[in-house]
Amino acid sequence: MGLYIGVDLGTSAVKLLLMDGKGKILNTVSKEYPLEFPHPGWSQQAPEDWKKAVFQGIPELLTGFDGKEVKGIGCGGQMHGLVILDGEDNVIRPAILWNDGRTAKQVDFLNNEIGKKVLSQRTANIAFAGFTAPKVLWVREEEPENFRRIAKLMLPKDYINYILTGVHSCDYSDASGMLLLDVEHKCWSKEMLDLCGLTESQMPRLFESYEKIGCVKSEIAAQLGLPESVVVAAGAGDNAAAAVGTGVVGNGGCNISLGTSGTVFISSDKFGVDSTNGLHAFAHADGGYHLMGCMLSAASCNKWLMDEIYKTSDYAGEQVPITGDKLGKNHVYFLPYLMGERSPINDTNARAAFIGMTMDTTRADLTQAVLEGVAFAIRDSVEVARSLGIEVTSSMICGGGAKSPLWKRIMANVLNIPLNSPASEQGPGMGGAMLAMVACGEYATVADACKEMVSIASTVEPEPELAALYEKRYQQFRQIYPACKNLFAELVKE
Ligand code: XUL
Repeated sequence: MGLYIGVDLGTSAVKLLLMDGKGKILNTVSKEYPLEFPHPGWSQQAPEDWKKAVFQGIPELLTGFDGKEVKGIGCGGQMHGLVILDGEDNVIRPAILWNDGRTAKQVDFLNNEIGKKVLSQRTANIAFAGFTAPKVLWVREEEPENFRRIAKLMLPKDYINYILTGVHSCDYSDASGMLLLDVEHKCWSKEMLDLCGLTESQMPRLFESYEKIGCVKSEIAAQLGLPESVVVAAGAGDNAAAAVGTGVVGNGGCNISLGTSGTVFISSDKFGVDSTNGLHAFAHADGGYHLMGCMLSAASCNKWLMDEIYKTSDYAGEQVPITGDKLGKNHVYFLPYLMGERSPINDTNARAAFIGMTMDTTRADLTQAVLEGVAFAIRDSVEVARSLGIEVTSSMICGGGAKSPLWKRIMANVLNIPLNSPASEQGPGMGGAMLAMVACGEYATVADACKEMVSIASTVEPEPELAALYEKRYQQFRQIYPACKNLFAELVKE
């Protein structure tokens, strides 16, 4: 049957898992790496750190197992990040990440001078600061010397795949988030490449996520304790990989991920564009498509509160005083825009805020406000989907934030839908390993792999009275951002 390695190349760490061909997880290893914020709203990371973490992590993952049994590797990676290499394969500059907001000017040019309609016709999407094309324009304008040196351009997980195999590849789900792909026809948009001053020779070769791109190079296989025949699948953007890992493939499924980012992912057999462009229209890792709303700071808002403000590592302990009677009654609101915001408001200037505090406000009220603020902002994307006539009647939920029963209960009541947790919490890594299995022929399709390996372990149902309280709170929350929007724009100018 063989063993498979799933790689979740995240923003704070790489999480690796070892799985057998039936989906049993045998081992996991996590390796953190630094994240730089060189200016407010900027976010970057060294691709060499990802490589180091993967190269340290794989031998550790295989300790106590027979590495020679490994048949395939598949990666789900943080999306949109711009990795550029020169002609000698040196990384030219730190990768500019998905939650980086430096490209406000380029986004404005793309959306307002090229025009949203034209972008949407070419790519099925409009420009958001985190997308790759605005970053390419930024490098061209701000770092012309670096721009001239670009021999190859790639996304984060594709850098790892390139190091492993020497093949310069990208899958359709991740490529969708570059604003350089014609998503409907699954090919690079010549017009978008021209606009960014790129040629097709600098771009990776495109694959379906479940296709084999190549095998691990022999010298690297020896270094990592792997056999030479290990197949590397094209892999997927982390949200598409997480959707595979939670069984959200085919038509009409929904997955909510509460990771560093917060996403609402709706899978579909057919290509479709959100006419308001509030949701991204991307390819899925099963060969189909999906719509997705992405908020930039989700579990990271809670992490920020715990690590930077409270200076505690006891996340669960901080939630103990938030008892059931307090839910739906908090008078404090939190606007979760610590990195600006993508879906659905598309505003790099947006900032976080606590609002509504009084002398009797407690530490626990603030913690609760953060959990609720993230849930309300997720609901903003669900509301866009509902306005398009998409029925979101239940969802899978995954990601670090979903480990908190309290947060799941708040989410289920704010959204007023049941939330299902999969038996395995390993979203993107599990999806990556499943894609590798399909690439190796263990399963014929991604859907077959999901049928065999994904099951629901528990469901949190909404409670009618609590959902009604949260409905009222959500309607109040919705008024905060429009009231602050102009002020945020002014604050950023200082
Ligand atoms: C999705 C997005 C984030 C990252 C997180 O569009 O930007 O969810 O993929 O890793």
